Amino acid sequence: MTLVTNRTLLDVAAGAGFGVGAFNVADLTMAQAVLDAARATESPVIVETLAGAHPHCSDETFWALLLELIDGYPEVPVALHLDHGPSYETCARAISAGFTSVMIDGSLDGAGRPASFEQNVAVTRRVVAYAHERGVSVEGELGTIGGSKDGTVRAEIVLADPAQAASFVAATGVDALAVAIGTSHGAYKFDTPPDGSVLRLDLVAEIAALVPGTHLVLHGSSSLPASLRARVNACGGRVPESWGVADEEKVRAVKLGIRKINQGMDHYLAFTAGVREALAADPVSVDPAVYLAAGRESAQRLLEERMVLFGQAGQASRYRR
Ligand code: 13P
Repeated sequence: MTLVTNRTLLDVAAGAGFGVGAFNVADLTMAQAVLDAARATESPVIVETLAGAHPHCSDETFWALLLELIDGYPEVPVALHLDHGPSYETCARAISAGFTSVMIDGSLDGAGRPASFEQNVAVTRRVVAYAHERGVSVEGELGTIGGSKDGTVRAEIVLADPAQAASFVAATGVDALAVAIGTSHGAYKFDTPPDGSVLRLDLVAEIAALVPGTHLVLHGSSSLPASLRARVNACGGRVPESWGVADEEKVRAVKLGIRKINQGMDHYLAFTAGVREALAADPVSVDPAVYLAAGRESAQRLLEERMVLFGQAGQASRYRR
């Protein structure tokens, strides 16, 4: 088993100054693309998934299959991470299933409104106590990241407050902290390329200095490349124009103190482009194994590029004992 905690994975990354992509997966084919990209580039990697992400498996079934899949990549240091755990109970389920890291998203109250600082601290602290007893890492969230986290909740952006960061970390003991700096989740982010007034990378440097032992996380990091959108739309898609976080901004974010970079949409777009191209090239094909393989290869190519960009490529050997 190649599993490590996020604490271990990110401590090593911080020591050497590189970033680590945390790539969302909602099925095994996508997880294979992530793990194959990590193997090909000799990268440590974070595989992350939302509760309820798989369209036709229970969480427990999907999670067991993910762990079995990861077992087949003994040379890849992997953290299995629950993205945006909505409650203490969901985090506890993921920990029992074998996750090595969980995120408790205490930024919203049960009704989708921004939670108070005290509410956020209370639930996060409870998860940290449970997780740390079992050797599992925890990520919390300060501020609220915009966009749709699960396709149902549309949270407005509330920027992370540096003055609260140190007290949040001291009160909760989190290993990693997602900081809202203007990004949003999903395939539709900004109507124009985001400038410094939208994407507040200055907050990263300020918060990093205040919580030196805690790893900062950038959510909503997809770039939404125009070239991928063009591939999808050339084969019947209608993905509207939108801008994400440019590659150079992500590199700058890592330099300023971001350690974990969350990405879902870009490899979903790449996967969809591969599937659409395969179906368009062979309109009589009805074999899902063939077009899913094309999607997987297309996603893997994009993921390999990102692993090189974030600096994790070539770093797997640092984790060998
Ligand atoms: P994107 O929606 O930009 O791909 O980001 C994913 C994410 O932040 C998951 O937590």
